[in-house]
Amino acid sequence: MPDPASPWRPCFITTPIYYVNDRPHIGHAYTSLAADVLARWRRLEGRDVFFLTGTDEHGQKVEKAAKDAGMDPQDFTDQVSQHFRDLAVTMGFSNDGFIRTTEDRHKRACAALWEKLAANGEIYLGHYEGWYAVRDEAFYGPDELTERDGVKYAPSGAPVEWVREPSYFFRLSAWADRLLKLYEDNPDFILPASRRNEVIAFVKAGLGDLSISRTSFRWGVPVPGDDAHVMYVWLDALTNYITAAGYPDDPAAFEKWWPADIHFVGKDILRFHAIYWPAFLMAAGLAPPKRVFAHGWWTNEGQKISKSLGNVIDPVALVDEFGLDPIRYFLLREVPFGQDGDFSRAALIARNNGELADTLGNLANRTLSLIQRNCEGRLPPPATVRDTDQLFIQELKVLPTEVRVRLDSQEFHLALDAIMAAARSANGYITVHAPWALKKTDPARMLEVLRHLHDALRVFATVLQPFMPTTMAKLLDQLGVPEEARGLGALSTPLPGGLVLPPPAPLFAKIEAGA
Ligand code: ME8
Ligand code: MG
Repeated sequence: MPDPASPWRPCFITTPIYYVNDRPHIGHAYTSLAADVLARWRRLEGRDVFFLTGTDEHGQKVEKAAKDAGMDPQDFTDQVSQHFRDLAVTMGFSNDGFIRTTEDRHKRACAALWEKLAANGEIYLGHYEGWYAVRDEAFYGPDELTERDGVKYAPSGAPVEWVREPSYFFRLSAWADRLLKLYEDNPDFILPASRRNEVIAFVKAGLGDLSISRTSFRWGVPVPGDDAHVMYVWLDALTNYITAAGYPDDPAAFEKWWPADIHFVGKDILRFHAIYWPAFLMAAGLAPPKRVFAHGWWTNEGQKISKSLGNVIDPVALVDEFGLDPIRYFLLREVPFGQDGDFSRAALIARNNGELADTLGNLANRTLSLIQRNCEGRLPPPATVRDTDQLFIQELKVLPTEVRVRLDSQEFHLALDAIMAAARSANGYITVHAPWALKKTDPARMLEVLRHLHDALRVFATVLQPFMPTTMAKLLDQLGVPEEARGLGALSTPLPGGLVLPPPAPLFAKIEAGA
């Protein structure tokens, strides 16, 4: 059993499993990107990571999408699910697993969880009568709805329909107090804090029992012992996280990975992850996840992203146009993680040109060109820290810790902010100490200044790897950092002086503003 206090313990990170009713868009790429960056950071720390993503393939919404496409639902999900696997490749995601809810292992996990809940007396048979939104695959109370032109809508904007059918229920009402205790005992269970308060208010307002089966369609996991019912798609979907961790087939794997360290989700599906999911788990005698982080919503140039408006942002087209790493950087840099944000080309171009090309790219290029020209392409030896170097060296020294603290709380934007601030300091340092002028006046000091700058670049490249893996691998190559010395732990071991460095090449291209 891994020591839960050890920083080296295994780490399980998840994304939502996306509905296969449609092609992936920027919102899906965003959640998975955040998870990818955290997973890569944890690996840099030396941790054993399991990073999971996948597709949610059952339910009325997917069944309907298959029907509209004139396809059998399994053939349809096989096809659309592939787009999400392709997206992971395009976006450079380092996921260790990809789960599909139509897999047999997952159906076994759903059945096992159901049977456990039933054995614990948490499920009863009744009759559901109320409002249902197929687009959200969610039940709503009458007080949550608004009416326009005779149609009722959920708070999400999805139209609702009246449903009346036999249904199994989960005794959610009995779990309110234990959920509130979970939130109270674990103040970081739901992040950001504003979302936590929303969830607490919702639970305090009272929870009804939850309908967890449907009889009016067939595309789902059958309820054990009652084939007339399929499981409610959210019970099925949430179970993916424990299926992938090894439940119930592989108890050793399950013990290693469960509970998950963090479920990344959008704010639209927080209720399912922060209320239903821990209640299901606790009712089955399983541990709830350690954290649910609900991020905000992207709009496109100020407008809600929707198919009907025709303004869906295709991540593949973006990557084709701007390159992968500038997109990865922009998405996590531009908007405080947790808040809503607006996608604009002007903002993307400004970040790329101002921060990646002018600040980081320029620093690397100036430093490495000077070493190439003035030191015969050899790394100067580790340098003495003079009084005038102190401030800069100190800022570098604390940077990895600052990034770690920010990433531990999923403040990706603040991690990048700190790195950019240090990169600006490095540009200030190179201007003030003007190593090009020292060549004639004080060549020994020139070597020191260039070595400090090289050390700075190594720190930046190391901590930026999770955000921009391809470009930072190139920078580390140019800096002469061997593959095995690219983890966080290796930063405390200086590279040997005299190392032959390859000729530098530009890392980032500027984008024309009119593009
Ligand atoms: O809800 N901005 O799947 P889904 C930011 N299958 N994020 C966005 C976004 C936007 N405009 N649009 C989508 C489901 N997302 C269920 C999940 S999990 C057990 C089951 C992201 O395909 C965000 O992460 O509708 C949101 O929560 C998710 O896509 C919803 O994906
Ligand atoms: Mg959705």
